[in-house]
Amino acid sequence: MTDQALVEKAFTMLDKSYVPYSHFPVGAALEGADGVIYTGCNVENAAYGSTLCAERTALVKAISEGCRSFTRLAVVGNSADYCWPCGACRQMLREFGADLEVLAANREGAYVAISLEELLPHSFGPETLG
Ligand code: THU
Repeated sequence: MTDQALVEKAFTMLDKSYVPYSHFPVGAALEGADGVIYTGCNVENAAYGSTLCAERTALVKAISEGCRSFTRLAVVGNSADYCWPCGACRQMLREFGADLEVLAANREGAYVAISLEELLPHSFGPETLG
């Protein structure tokens, strides 16, 4: 699958987002090393802190299906700027490898490719614990 196609997969998730509070839909598509694409959307909650981001939705879907190794992640929000993964998502993704390629897209479909290592330098991970 091309980068562009993975970004398009993320776009298809915008409609699924549950965003009655922020009105800011986010879609994600996480490519497993098994070749499966795990999609996600943000799911908000009246107790705001219980909101789940699109990237973590996709990640948790993958882990719960038995996939723990990933190659690329596409994320898109309804924004003029690229939709960068938040800090909590960066950290949770990093657990499963810092060399993940992240495709951060804007609402026009333009995107930039950047590694998770660049997004979260000097990170704390399972190796740190020894
Ligand atoms: N959001 C994501 O889904 N992913 C991110 O990486 C950043 C933020 C969501 C959370 C909330 O539903 C909305 O965007 C506004 O913060």
